[in-house]
Amino acid sequence: MYFPTYRMRRLRQSEQIRNLVHETDLLPDRLIYPMFVVHGQDKRIPIESMPGCYQQSINNLVEEAREVRDLGIPGVLLFGIPAEKDEAGTGAYDEEGIIQMALAALKEEVPELLLITDVCLCEYTSHGHCGIIKDNDVDNDLTLEMLAKMALSHAESGADIVAPSDMMDGRVAAIRGALDSEGFINTPIMSYAAKFASAYYGPFREAAESSPEFGDRRSYQMDCRNSDEAMREVLLDIEEGADIVMVKPALPYLDIIYRVKQETKFPLAAYHVSGEYSMIKATAAAGWIDEKRAVLEAMTAIRRAGADTIITYHAKDVARWLT
Ligand code: PBG
Ligand code: ZN
Repeated sequence: MYFPTYRMRRLRQSEQIRNLVHETDLLPDRLIYPMFVVHGQDKRIPIESMPGCYQQSINNLVEEAREVRDLGIPGVLLFGIPAEKDEAGTGAYDEEGIIQMALAALKEEVPELLLITDVCLCEYTSHGHCGIIKDNDVDNDLTLEMLAKMALSHAESGADIVAPSDMMDGRVAAIRGALDSEGFINTPIMSYAAKFASAYYGPFREAAESSPEFGDRRSYQMDCRNSDEAMREVLLDIEEGADIVMVKPALPYLDIIYRVKQETKFPLAAYHVSGEYSMIKATAAAGWIDEKRAVLEAMTAIRRAGADTIITYHAKDVARWLT
């Protein structure tokens, strides 16, 4: 059973043969495109560290959402930048808040698109943390109430899926309870289950204007040294009722993606985050890497590791390249 009986190169000799035996598929219907929405009219403000991404007012958001739909991408993940922030992040569940209005407009204008909302307070709090501050730390249990209110408000405004990204303990159960008690029994929860405290979120914090004013997020997001702990986080979210679990970031955590899929067989999303995007965009702009090949290789690797769904700022480009 060895050379020269077997020659591995036989099945690599032409594009057709390679296509016939390839193991991992990548299709636009696996992708989710993140978008940033701001108040105002006709706004399309470039995010400097994320070339090709914008903070957009609702009219322009709707226009881009149509393009996303036409490319065969099934859903978008929405982040809102409120007009005003406060200590408790009350803008997060304002009936006329930025996300709530964006949801209504998108549901009306692009009904085919799945609307997924990021549920977290950091865009809405004046201090930029993902919850309510008490004694210089994020108070877990006070925050749960706010997150449940926020998720419910999103569902009422038209969200198809809610995606809590705060990393408070017990938030999935709190959100499930709030949704169910108001009749939203069929609204899935996609939980950011294994979310690591990562340098790769840097560009996003410019995009979402959500940098913490003091300290960092290490008391709630995960330590990058841990894999068993990631499994515990995922299993707890599943027990609490998560429908889809997420690993974030993606490429530095392919081992976690692999392990979560192998050990849970649950629907699994991976978030290829802002810093991962910016690294490719910057090196491609310098002429140091072939952008299309680098992106498709990254996406394929994330799928191969076990992700069913990829959340990525490259989604529109990938969909174009694949069709
Ligand atoms: C909010 C949130 C963040 C990201 C998604 N939701 C930032 C953070 O936790 O600091 C990061 C997304 C990205 O970097 O693309 N909690
Ligand atoms: Zn947050």
